[in-house]
Amino acid sequence: MRFLVFGAGGAQGGVVARRLADEGYAVRGLSRAGAAPEGVEPFRADLGDAARVAEAFTGVTHASVVLPLEFEPGRVAAYVRHVVDAAKAAGVRRLVFCTGNRLPVDETGVAAFETRRAAARAMLESPVPSVVLCPPLYLENLAAPWVRDGLAAEGVLRYPVPAGVPVAWLSHADLAAATLAALTRDGLEGATLDLGGEPVTGPELAAAFGARYEGVDVDAFEAGLAAAAGARTAAGVASTYRWVADRGHDLYAAPSGGAERLGITVTSPAAWAAARPWVTA
Ligand SMILES: NC(=O)c1ccc[n+]([C@@H]2O[C@H](COP(=O)([O-])OP(=O)(O)OC[C@H]3O[C@@H](n4cnc5c(N)ncnc54)[C@H](OP(=O)(O)O)[C@@H]3O)[C@@H](O)[C@H]2O)c1
Repeated sequence: MRFLVFGAGGAQGGVVARRLADEGYAVRGLSRAGAAPEGVEPFRADLGDAARVAEAFTGVTHASVVLPLEFEPGRVAAYVRHVVDAAKAAGVRRLVFCTGNRLPVDETGVAAFETRRAAARAMLESPVPSVVLCPPLYLENLAAPWVRDGLAAEGVLRYPVPAGVPVAWLSHADLAAATLAALTRDGLEGATLDLGGEPVTGPELAAAFGARYEGVDVDAFEAGLAAAAGARTAAGVASTYRWVADRGHDLYAAPSGGAERLGITVTSPAAWAAARPWVTA
């Protein structure tokens, strides 16, 4: 088996590529800059370059796909087409697509959700045996400086989700375990699996850090993110939080049988926090 991991220089693709390499698999990691974890063969390609994406699939039997922080529908559709066409031509035996977020049941008009819904559909409807993984919010988001600073200085966990909204948080390590299982377990082709643990509200999450919780206004969150990641990316990310705050209170709480299907145990926020030296609770 040879694995191709998209976004291998990034947060999610990086942890997936590292986990597969640690398992002893041959792993090729795709990114534009050619960054990849140790033990992973780096491969430079832009998702917009169909020929180069096809080259990346040479000799590949299994692929893990996560899309970058790009939400323009035409561009994302081209990325997805290049991946599906190349996987099909290479005779890939299993494609695992991580949507990067849960998918609301009904169409939302929010590009950050709908581009991922269309991508999942394209993969599941292709002849390539595919599995779709839908994570909730990542615990690693809480390691961002603007969250950590509030925890350390004031004992306040600030996050752009209303306090009463339950979230089934997931760690990157558990995403990697889920992806490994989705790539290698029999009988999962065609499945769409929600990932996550036991949902917790904001105050319950904050308690795991010995802190109290404050919901952050989404406009303020977007302004802060724009300074770090640019206005376009910030608008795309903030649009999902805005939708959750306005009408998606159950998006991250839906029962998630995914972990059971994949045979993984999901780390609780308290266990995750306890393993972080910067958490002083
Ligand atoms: N649910 C959550 O809590 C949560 C949190 C964060 C992100 N997300 C979602 O997860 C997805 C990925 O996020 P991430 O945190 O892993 O992103 P990231 O850390 O920015 O990583 C993106 C990776 O993709 C590569 N990349 C970017 N543009 C590319 C292109 N055009 N062609 C080929 N490779 C490209 C990057 O490397 P190069 O720049 O070198 O190409 C990098 O390796 C996004 O869809 C995002 O919305 C969800």
